[in-house]
Amino acid sequence: QEIMKGSFKTFMQKEIFEQPDSVINTMRGRVLPNGQVVLGGIKDYLPDIKRCRRLIMVACGTSYHSAIACRQILEELSELPVVLELASDFLDRQTPIFRDDVCIFVSQSGETADTLMALRYCKPRGALTIGITNTVGSSICRESHCGVHINAGPEIGVASTKAYTSQILALLMLALTLCDDRISMQKRRTEIVEALNKLPEMIREVLKLDDAVAKIADDIYKEKSLLIMGRGFNFSTCLEGALKIKELSYMHCEGIMSGELKHGPLAMVDENLRICMVICQDGVYKKSLNALQQVVARRGAPIIIADQSVPQSDLADMPHILRVPTTVDCVQSILTVIPLQLLSYHIAEKNGQNVDRPRNLAKSVTVE
Ligand code: G6P
Repeated sequence: QEIMKGSFKTFMQKEIFEQPDSVINTMRGRVLPNGQVVLGGIKDYLPDIKRCRRLIMVACGTSYHSAIACRQILEELSELPVVLELASDFLDRQTPIFRDDVCIFVSQSGETADTLMALRYCKPRGALTIGITNTVGSSICRESHCGVHINAGPEIGVASTKAYTSQILALLMLALTLCDDRISMQKRRTEIVEALNKLPEMIREVLKLDDAVAKIADDIYKEKSLLIMGRGFNFSTCLEGALKIKELSYMHCEGIMSGELKHGPLAMVDENLRICMVICQDGVYKKSLNALQQVVARRGAPIIIADQSVPQSDLADMPHILRVPTTVDCVQSILTVIPLQLLSYHIAEKNGQNVDRPRNLAKSVTVE
């Protein structure tokens, strides 16, 4: 049943619109009404995980971006150093791994060769391994010590959408379990859990932007290049949005950390370059506005993705502003990425590309 397209034109479109439900499935039975978060698949290992000295997240592609999205909150709630690794580079470097490391392997399929090899590299070195997958019984799921199923349901479109948002949720829930006994974190935990409870409704709101996003796609689908800029919790959205646009419409698209703007990318900015900026009222808000001013001063007129709390006056008179509901900072990227999933979809459609099967790519890369 679940693998039928129903009223949707493509699997990707269906999967984007399924997100209000897939996030519920990811949280079902885990985020409890009393604010507790219980992950059955790691419960027995939790004391060991809490004792570790370093968390390492290893992944490829979109799954890697979900790790970027959650690095800051994992650092904040676990008070541990959190290291991110692209599985291929991790293996290339044969990097040192210690017995008191906890290695987290994030993979939708659970079969990506590089991620699986990285797991096989870490295990004999004595690290505790956690698999975060969408596929029960997959290799990563079987070979890791413990894990979290994201329960997003089968994802058929080669470009990952609902699995991405569910991976972020799984990592957020993991971060919450790591600090469940710390009094000092209770306020922050409550704030996050409350945001998670409202998330499905907020995603429904974001999906209403579909028509507005399609109009933006009308405007830019013939462009050669697009830059997507942001920072902090929304940097992952920029990388993931850019990846979606590259893989589906073959348009050059780059996700840029706006903190790096003055170290190069600003040189490209003029009235012709197409830019999208993600600006939310979070810890980096002032810096994000500064980046916008830098771009506007060079006659750039970026498409803006902002949360509803950003005052209109701060966004000057930008021609395209997409507003998403405001939520807590570490959850916000789930809402800001969806307009870009939709944008990549519409750009590809308008260019006549096969959205579910982009050329040269495979859903699961099982060779190194
Ligand atoms: C391929 C897919 C991507 C996916 C990546 C990692 O490149 O096209 O959508 O993000 O593999 O896959 P995994 O199954 O490990 O998450």
